[in-house]
Amino acid sequence: MIQDKKVSFSGVQPSGNLSIGNYLGAIRNFSAFSEQYKCFYCVVDAHAITVRQVPADLRRRTYETLSLYMACGLDPEKNTLYVQSHVPAHAELAWALNCFTMFGELSRMTQFKDKSAKHSDNINAGLFTYPVLMAADILLYQTDVVPVGIDQKQHVELCRDIATRFNNVFPDTFTIPEPIIPKTGMKIMSLVEPTKKMSKSDENTNAVVYILDDRDTIIRKFKRAVTDSDTCVRYAEGKDGINNLMNIYATFTGKTHEEIEREFDGKGYGEFKLAVGEVCADAMQPVQQKFAAYMSDKAYLESVMKKGAEEASYYARKTLSKVHKKLGFVSLR
Ligand code: TRP
Repeated sequence: MIQDKKVSFSGVQPSGNLSIGNYLGAIRNFSAFSEQYKCFYCVVDAHAITVRQVPADLRRRTYETLSLYMACGLDPEKNTLYVQSHVPAHAELAWALNCFTMFGELSRMTQFKDKSAKHSDNINAGLFTYPVLMAADILLYQTDVVPVGIDQKQHVELCRDIATRFNNVFPDTFTIPEPIIPKTGMKIMSLVEPTKKMSKSDENTNAVVYILDDRDTIIRKFKRAVTDSDTCVRYAEGKDGINNLMNIYATFTGKTHEEIEREFDGKGYGEFKLAVGEVCADAMQPVQQKFAAYMSDKAYLESVMKKGAEEASYYARKTLSKVHKKLGFVSLR
C-alpha cells in the first residue's frame, strides 16, 4: 500500500511503436487505473539490451516511449513514470533474487526458449535471467497487481514463486503480486488475419495500425482490411474481419453493434471500412500532435524522467535495504 492505494507496476519496452490494439486495450484505461492504484510505469531499457540494440535508436526510443504514453493521457503528476536504468536498485535486487532462482525454472520459460531460437548467435546470460530482473522490477515496489499481456503471465508466476521462496526464508519481505490479464472482449485483431491478435511486431505492416501512422496510412490499412464475401455490415459468428472492424468502430464511437448495423444498413463494406479508418485517424490526431510536442522538448522529458526516478528510488531503496539487511549484508550509516 502506498498512500492508501494498492500498487500497480508495469514495465514497458522502449519501442515507441504502439498499435491501436495497445491503445484501445490498455493505454486508454490508464487514467481510470491511477484513481484506483498507485501506478508505476517503467521504461525497461535494461531489459532491452538482452538482445542487441543500436545505442542511438535505444536512446531515441526511450524518449519516444515516454512521449507516447504521455500523449495517450498518462499523467506524470498522477503516475510514477521513469526509466529502469535510472534506478540502480533494479539491478541490485535482481542480483539477490538470482540467488533465489533455480536454473531449471529459468530454462522452462517459453520466452527464453523462443528468443534463444530467434537469436541463436547471442544466447547471453542476461537473456536467461531476464525474468529475474522483471521480478526485481515488480517486487521492489511491494506491488499488488501487474497488468500484463497473456505472454508475460509465466514471468509474473515465476516472480510469485521467487518472492514466496524468499519470504519462506525471510518472512514478510515481499508482497506477492497478482497478474491482471485484460479481458479478451477488448482484443483487437489483425487486419490481415482477423483470427490473430493485432501485434505491434507483426511483419506485415498492413495487419497493424500504429498510433503514429499518418491519416492516409490509417485509412489505407482499413480499406485493405480482410473481410468476407457477405455484403451487409452485421456482427455474426464466423465474420471475424467485420466483427473486428465493428469492435474498433464501437470503441472509438461508443456505439453499440446494433447501432452500427443500423447506421450502415444498405451500405457496402467499402463505405464502412472508410468510416472506421476516419474515426480512427480522427482519434489518433490529437495523440500524434501531443507526441510531436513532447518529442521536441527533451528538457521537459528529462525533467519527467528525473522526478520519476527520484520517486521510484525512494520506494525501491526501502525494499532493497530491507532485503540486504535480511541477507546479512553490513549496512553503513
Ligand atoms: N517483459 C515485459 C514485456 O516484454 C516488460 C516488463 C519488464 C514488465 N519488467 C516488467 C512487465 C515488470 C510487467 C512488470 O512486455
